[in-house]
Amino acid sequence: MRKTGSSLNSSAITRREAIRRAVVFSTGAWMAGRLPGARAAAPRTTFGDDGLHVLALGDFGAGNDAQLAVAQQMATFAKSLDRPLEAVLALGDNFYNKLTPDRFDAHFERMYAVEHLNCPFYVVAGNHDYGTASYDFQQGKLQMQLDYAKANAGSRWRFPSKWYAVELPDSANPLVKFIVLDGSYWEGALTPQEKIAQRRFLKSELEKPSRAPWLWMVNHYPLFSESADRGDNATLIREWGPHLQQHPVALLLAGHDHTLQHLHVEGYSTSFVVSGAGGARLYDIQAPHRGFADNRHYGFVHIHATTDYLQLQFIAATGECLHAFRRDRAGNVEVRPLA
Ligand SMILES: [Fe+2]
Repeated sequence: MRKTGSSLNSSAITRREAIRRAVVFSTGAWMAGRLPGARAAAPRTTFGDDGLHVLALGDFGAGNDAQLAVAQQMATFAKSLDRPLEAVLALGDNFYNKLTPDRFDAHFERMYAVEHLNCPFYVVAGNHDYGTASYDFQQGKLQMQLDYAKANAGSRWRFPSKWYAVELPDSANPLVKFIVLDGSYWEGALTPQEKIAQRRFLKSELEKPSRAPWLWMVNHYPLFSESADRGDNATLIREWGPHLQQHPVALLLAGHDHTLQHLHVEGYSTSFVVSGAGGARLYDIQAPHRGFADNRHYGFVHIHATTDYLQLQFIAATGECLHAFRRDRAGNVEVRPLA
C-alpha cells in the first residue's frame, strides 16, 4: 500500500511542528489525489465488529440533482459497510427556499433511502433554516422542523431543540458524546436570552462526567475555514475557542461553507471538519494552508469510531474517497488512505 502520511506523535515533536506536519501531509494527500491520471481511491467499507459508523453532511436542502447524487452515494456507501450506520449528522441548511410540509417527505424521507440509511438523523439549525429576512424569508421555518420531529416520533428526523447532547450508541455504554449547538449569532437568529441559555447548557455538558471516550462538538458554522469569501468566524472562535482548548473535543463538525475540509489550527488539538457539500452550489476556496480543502466535489463525511481511534473519510458523490485520516486518543493525527 502506498503510504502518504506518517504518525504525528506529539510527545516526540512540538505541538507547532505536529500541526505543521499535519498540514503538509494533508495537503500532500490532497495534491496526490488531484494529479492527472491519479487513480481515484475507493472508500474503505470493511471495519469489522469494532466501533460504530456515523455520516455527516451539511447544506443539502436544495432539492436538486446534487442533493440526490449525494443521498444516493450515502445509501450506496452505507449498503457496502459491514455494519449498519449508527447515526447521520445533518449539519444545517436542511431546506433552502420555502419550506412546505411535503418537502419533509420529498427532500428528506424519500431522498435519504430508509432501506440503507435507517438510523437517526440528528439535525442542526443552519442560517437558511431560520427563515429570517436575510435568508429565505419565511416565518416559523425553523419551528416547522422542530415540530416535524415532535409530531413524527417514529421518523429518522431528530431535532429536539436548537441545542442538545447525544451519546452513541447509548447512554449506558457510550462510545461518543456529541454536543449539538446553534452558532446562529447573527442578527435575527438567536436571542440574547437564548445565547445565555446555550452558554449554560454547553458549560454544563462539558463539565458533566461522561464515560464516552470521544467528545465532539457539532454546529452549522465552521470556526476555521479555507473558503475564499468567509474564512474564519471570529464570533464563534471567541465564544467556543476557549472550550475547545480546555476540554478534550476531538472533532468540531460543521457545514455552511459549501466545501469539504479537514483543518488543524495552531493552538487547538481539535480536528476541524467541514462537511458542507451536501447539495447546494459549491464555494470558492483559497489555497489551503491548514489542511485539506476541496470544492470540486459534492459529498459527505464518514466517521468510524472505536475506543482507540476515530477514522474519517471524505467521500464524493462519485464514490471517490478524497481524503482520509485517523486520530488516536492522544490526539495524534495520521493522514492516509484507510483502505
Ligand atoms: Fe449556511
